[in-house]
Amino acid sequence: MIEELKKETRTPEADEEKICGAVKHFEALLREQLKRRDDMASARPPRNFRDGRPVTIGVIDGDGIGPIIMREAERVLRFLLRDEMNAGTVILRRIEGLTLENRTAKGQAVPDDVLAAVKACDVLLKGPTTTPKGGTLESANVVLRRSLDLFANVRPVVVPEEGVDWIFFRENTEGEYALGSRGIAFDDILTADFKVTTDTGTRRIARAAFEYARQNGKKNVAIVTKANILKKTDGMFSRIAHEVASQYPEIEAEDWYVDIMAANLVNPAVRSKFQVFLLPNLYGDILTDEAAQIQGGVGTAGSSNTGDHYAMFEAIHGSAPRKIAAGEGAYANPASILRATEMLLRHIGRIAEADHLNRAMNVCLEEERRVVVTGHADGATCEAFGDYLLEKLAAE
Ligand code: IPM
Ligand code: MG
Repeated sequence: MIEELKKETRTPEADEEKICGAVKHFEALLREQLKRRDDMASARPPRNFRDGRPVTIGVIDGDGIGPIIMREAERVLRFLLRDEMNAGTVILRRIEGLTLENRTAKGQAVPDDVLAAVKACDVLLKGPTTTPKGGTLESANVVLRRSLDLFANVRPVVVPEEGVDWIFFRENTEGEYALGSRGIAFDDILTADFKVTTDTGTRRIARAAFEYARQNGKKNVAIVTKANILKKTDGMFSRIAHEVASQYPEIEAEDWYVDIMAANLVNPAVRSKFQVFLLPNLYGDILTDEAAQIQGGVGTAGSSNTGDHYAMFEAIHGSAPRKIAAGEGAYANPASILRATEMLLRHIGRIAEADHLNRAMNVCLEEERRVVVTGHADGATCEAFGDYLLEKLAAE
């Protein structure tokens, strides 16, 4: 009945007009993506963080539990980098305005003045931002990743007692995310989104994964796709990944489909044999939440978004509006953003400070467990954990 009604309101001429409109839209997207691919191929040489120039760290609170967990992360950064900040070799700069209210008021996922402030920094530590479902406002995260060309989303997950030591290299600018908000809706009866994979985009994330494997003595990289179904995009991702793999003969490159890999991660009999994962964007999004849950929850895993010129470090989880609505924001777990803080320190070459934070986190989270955050009112507050961690950091 409903279908019949829709048919009645359609005419062949109106269909034709919409198809022509969609073809034009698609043509514009293809031209733009081709240009993006060509720009990538001629990228400038990467920023070297050990060249002695001052490093500016932008600190962005975000929404929901963002300001609460970021407060602890900022305290830790200020403590660990106090000498560098005094000497002027590290500058910590707060960036305001990446809030849902401001983004909605300006109608921009990342308002122009915020983006300009972000681009004036070298690296960012960012709290989670809320993305409204539906509507037209794009995810601030996706826009930042795209605007700063942060192509590598790297997420480590470790469960020592199970021998699990994983690191995920998720492609971060392409796949379903490249044009996720620019699909086609043919009235409300047919919709199409687009998935984009480029050779250059795949090659650079594949290189990052294999290079990491080589430098860290890893023997295995799992290339995770659904190339049996998505023959063009995932087919190319797999082909280019193997092309890159051929330059790393000491490392085994294995093809896996994402569905069976999702099963493998919860299979204790096989999961510890995986080491490095290389995935297109959406599969990486999904499997890294699954993996983080195995480690103890999405509140526990850090995440880095790196490109050749900028890098952004963040928690793996979202802004937890349900927790705020339940009045439990103060009990949010800062572990994920603190792991991201450790990754930031490592990225800017502050290895000793990163190791220092890592040791103190392990003592607080695993050895002593004197202050335990559960995420709810039955556990310690985020701030109490921050105090505990700072006490450990100062004691060393
Ligand atoms: C992540 C998040 C983001 C994503 C959201 C917040 C846009 O889930 O970083 O994994 O989908 O990539
Ligand atoms: Mg995610």
